[in-house]
Amino acid sequence: MPHLSELHGAATHLAVVAVPVYLLILLVRRAGRGGASLAAAEPWVVGAAVAGVGLAGITGLLVWGQAQTTLRGSSFRIGTIHFWLGIALAVTIVAIAAWRRVRVAADRHTHGPELIAGGVLALAAVLTQGYIGGRMTYNHGVGVDSAGQYAQSASGAARLDVALARGTDPAKAGSQAFSVSGLGCASCHGDRAQGLRGPRLAGGVELGDFRHVHAHGLFPPSVVTDADFAAIDAWLRTLPRGRG
Ligand code: HEC
Repeated sequence: MPHLSELHGAATHLAVVAVPVYLLILLVRRAGRGGASLAAAEPWVVGAAVAGVGLAGITGLLVWGQAQTTLRGSSFRIGTIHFWLGIALAVTIVAIAAWRRVRVAADRHTHGPELIAGGVLALAAVLTQGYIGGRMTYNHGVGVDSAGQYAQSASGAARLDVALARGTDPAKAGSQAFSVSGLGCASCHGDRAQGLRGPRLAGGVELGDFRHVHAHGLFPPSVVTDADFAAIDAWLRTLPRGRG
């Protein structure tokens, strides 16, 4: 079942494609190349850009609430910038389309410096929007459904911490944490750490190797602590290191 933030991502891409293509068409026509077919394509691309910013705006308003409930404190500033830049971009695109209509109605060419300036401005806004939107999603988790894969990291680490605090043998607690129902290492490294998509870990691994691969992804050190890793490693060390 697709959710709203996915729709915003998908809808936005119509504008992401149409705006640079529009600028490209203008520049090629300005250089006196491209012929009649490029001139005929131009209104369609402008139409796609208008539709793109329209759809991006509508779906953006639908997911606006997610920014309000996800961006903590002053991080909300990037949500505000994304919002107003989106409106500025929409105004620019509509102004381009309107100005182009005026030129067409006056039977003049449609690749003058005003329209090229508009295209450059729109392109800069699209690139900035993409960057900020990416930061909102990838750095701040706006729109990530139910915390995505990270929910398992959090609940798995919490259970491991409770087990360790209760004095459970680290190797036993680590074994549970490694399993598919714990932190889920086993889903990629195999139930007995024999190696699947991820390499074989049986016999024990170094903290540095773990951090190198996983610290900036599924298992940041603030969630899977050194003590958590040590418990998992205690279990890995009980497994035979050799092949098979
Ligand atoms: C979604 C799949 C996935 C999950 C879940 C996962 N890993 Fe990995 N892991 C990999 C892959 C793939 C690599 C190899 C990456 C590479 O070599 O660039 C890897 C590499 C490693 C390495 C480095 C091995 C080496 O020889 O350098 C360690 C250590 C490791 N994982 C430990 C763990 C632990 C502990 C967990 C659970 C807390 C875990 N992994 C969960 C996919 C996963």
